[in-house]
Amino acid sequence: MSKTRIKGLLFDLDGVLVSTEQNHFHAWKSIADKYQISFDELDNERLKGMSRGDSLKIILELGDILISEDEFNDLLHLKNQIYLDSIQKLNQKDLLPGVLALLNKAKSKNIPCGLGSSSKNAKTILNLVEIETYFDSIIDGNGVEFPKPNSEVFLNGAMELGLTPNEIIVFEDAESGVKAGKDGGFFVVGVGNIHIKKSVDVFVSSLLDFNLDEYA
Ligand code: BG6
Ligand code: MG
Repeated sequence: MSKTRIKGLLFDLDGVLVSTEQNHFHAWKSIADKYQISFDELDNERLKGMSRGDSLKIILELGDILISEDEFNDLLHLKNQIYLDSIQKLNQKDLLPGVLALLNKAKSKNIPCGLGSSSKNAKTILNLVEIETYFDSIIDGNGVEFPKPNSEVFLNGAMELGLTPNEIIVFEDAESGVKAGKDGGFFVVGVGNIHIKKSVDVFVSSLLDFNLDEYA
């Protein structure tokens, strides 16, 4: 990609902007434990970026467990309660390294930013960490028909920013999100998660290592 063509940024939330991926993992772990399903951090890699429902399906498949639709919905509710309880004290200090600096840099360069998250709690979290005002577009788990790895979340974000995918950098930490970005025609920067290093266009250990001046 021509480094002068970047006109917008789309960010995943959990694991890219905020350190909430561990909270999701621990909440799922307690659901898995309830059914004596073996579930570790490596299994959790498959869940990252996936919707709540798709994540539960994967966990139940791991344990070869069949449950009724009512029990399934109860578990989704329980997982979310555990998750929300665990993030009650989330605040701006929980932003991952380099996030505020990059958002401010984008603002100073008039580069619009959008959020492309699978989470239905995205707006709550943006509020808790006090960065909602940085975003010109917020597409979350409530606003898509087809969650990641489908590209819809990022394509809708591009549309809201009034840009085409080849003008946008997507920041992701999850395999499903990288696929969503790549399939949608975006330049994808992988952040933090070593497991996605080979699938992305550029990999950085944290956003501290990403220099927007090189792209826009
Ligand atoms: C993604 C996370 O951002 O959101 C997943 O990577 C999570 O781990 C998914 O399952 C859905 O989140 P929520 O908040 O709607 O349960
Ligand atoms: Mg993520």
